[in-house]
Amino acid sequence: MIITIDGPAGAGKSTISQEFAKVINYDVLDTGAMYRCVALLKKESDLVLNDAKLQQDILNMDIVFQNNEVLLNGKNVTKEIRTAEIDIITSVEVSPHYFVRSEMCNLQRKMAEDKNMVVEGRDMGSNVFPNSPLKFYLTANANVRAKRRHDQLLEKNIHRDLKELEREIEKRDFEDMNRVHNPLCIPEGAHIIDTSDLSLQEVLQKMLEIFQKIS
Ligand code: DC
Repeated sequence: MIITIDGPAGAGKSTISQEFAKVINYDVLDTGAMYRCVALLKKESDLVLNDAKLQQDILNMDIVFQNNEVLLNGKNVTKEIRTAEIDIITSVEVSPHYFVRSEMCNLQRKMAEDKNMVVEGRDMGSNVFPNSPLKFYLTANANVRAKRRHDQLLEKNIHRDLKELEREIEKRDFEDMNRVHNPLCIPEGAHIIDTSDLSLQEVLQKMLEIFQKIS
């Protein structure tokens, strides 16, 4: 069975997906990391996304998720795909691109074939797996999401202005929700969970209760 988890940046999708999948013993697919890998290929090739050579490289991409690490064509790119530069290339250039989206969709369906898998992203329940029997939409207000990002960065000794982070998050939301191809939206039939005032354990508890009801 495929379980979809969608929602805006900073709603806690990655951590929650990992933890939820662990508890129910499912595999997990971080589709944001796939778009980030495309951004890295683009950056390294210095080609535009309409270039035939880059598109061929995207078609041939070998992405492996292994023990919380991401391997792209055999190379560990876990850290490289999380830089601020890759954030921007991914959200502004890569994720709105039609060719990229349709190829990622094909690849995601192939990777999930015949598996019990939690798939996490922006268009999982609405576009890639619309027939999934269990869909979640995780959200949180922009202020809470900015605060979480602020604290994560602080742990890495990076000091950022909270208001500025909130503005960045609002801009990301706007871009995700207003792109032409497969924008972020609440999928039909999704269970909406606002994580603003909930702990990780409380969110997991809610999701497990819903999972147990349908299984
Ligand atoms: O979840 P994330 O921040 O790692 O996602 C990186 C970027 O990829 C972000 O700009 C949204 C985009 N994305 C997307 O358009 N569709 C998905 N299914 C997953 C991510």
